[in-house]
Amino acid sequence: MTLTTPVATPAFVIDQRTLDADLAAVREIADQASCRLLYSPKACALSDVLGCVSRNVDGFACSSPYELELVERACGEAASLHLISPLIKAETLEVFGDRLASVIFNSLSQWRRLGEKASRGTRQGLRVNPQLSIVRDRRYDPCRRNSKLGVPVHDLAALARSDPGRLAGIDGLHFHTNCDETDFTGLLATARHIEDVIPHLLERMDWINLGGGYLFTEAHDLAGFFETVAIFRQRFGLDVFIEPGAALVRRSGTIEATVHDILAGDDLQIAVLDTTVNHMPEVFEFQFEPDILGHVAGGLHGYILAGCTCLAGDVFGEYAFDMPLEVGSRVTFLNVGAYTMSKAHRFNGVGLPSIYLRRRDGSLKLVAEDSFEEFAQLSGVAARAVA
Ligand SMILES: Cc1ncc(COP(=O)(O)O)c(C=O)c1O
Repeated sequence: MTLTTPVATPAFVIDQRTLDADLAAVREIADQASCRLLYSPKACALSDVLGCVSRNVDGFACSSPYELELVERACGEAASLHLISPLIKAETLEVFGDRLASVIFNSLSQWRRLGEKASRGTRQGLRVNPQLSIVRDRRYDPCRRNSKLGVPVHDLAALARSDPGRLAGIDGLHFHTNCDETDFTGLLATARHIEDVIPHLLERMDWINLGGGYLFTEAHDLAGFFETVAIFRQRFGLDVFIEPGAALVRRSGTIEATVHDILAGDDLQIAVLDTTVNHMPEVFEFQFEPDILGHVAGGLHGYILAGCTCLAGDVFGEYAFDMPLEVGSRVTFLNVGAYTMSKAHRFNGVGLPSIYLRRRDGSLKLVAEDSFEEFAQLSGVAARAVA
């Protein structure tokens, strides 16, 4: 990765070579496990990313009609589209019809109301809540008490025991219970748990989708993943799908920012940047410190790096560098390819970063630029009449 990228800031830059390498690595892991690889575009749905991803995956796990439409427009009608969401509307099933390879209902009630609206060519699945929490932060735990996500596995077991015919038409199951994980112990424990609770139901299914939440390229030991896939493939003869998002795109994205002011804080200097947590909302949500190029633990020159909005908590954290920052210095956020541009917003009227692709030869392509007109249009403010 180059030290500084000659772009106007704030800018989001996708590095094609990193993207290629991570796509190839995850593809190889999926092939080795004999499972099908879908991409969750919620992580990053930029056109160049979708185009590249589509050459390496078996389809897309979309969350909404907008994502379905976007993927189809960016990747063409041959793209295999899968829909999973707590909210599926009859009109979406009608509009997409046969173009939906699968639809995964979040609840038995949604399935009962809408199952018959799905096209005959669309496979129907149910999201299962395994009721085995492996995420510590309750806000991100799909298995928390009173979770809205998926049919509790014990309810499914009871239903399958009492009246298996009531699940006729469902040929697959789905679960997604983790986030940014590099250790597959929790996945394997979940697989064994499901295997114990609903063995007879699994025997009647054709496929299972293990969701996303695992950073395959950053994992040191994939044995737990291979064993999980083997349980479902070998014991139950299921086709296994995974639908990662972050694992494919996280490392390929950087955000380039410029220091615009340096303030004296109580005990540290504060460098104010032209980016903000608006552009990386998970920094605020999760309260984590993103990686920054040139940061050295114990470096001579320490700063709080702060965003440019009025929110007091719009700060990225404490960083130190070997060289002092000054007004005009460039700051590069690393590993921000996932859940940044797809979650970014314009709070305080701060525009979104321009989007660039760093091609394989190192040259830059400007992909998209935000504008005041788009901001005004969303506020319902008409363009000025030209005199
Ligand atoms: C149902 C489902 N599948 C897949 C993903 C992708 O997860 P990740 O980007 O962590 O791999 C998510 C993320 O929230 C999800 O909710």
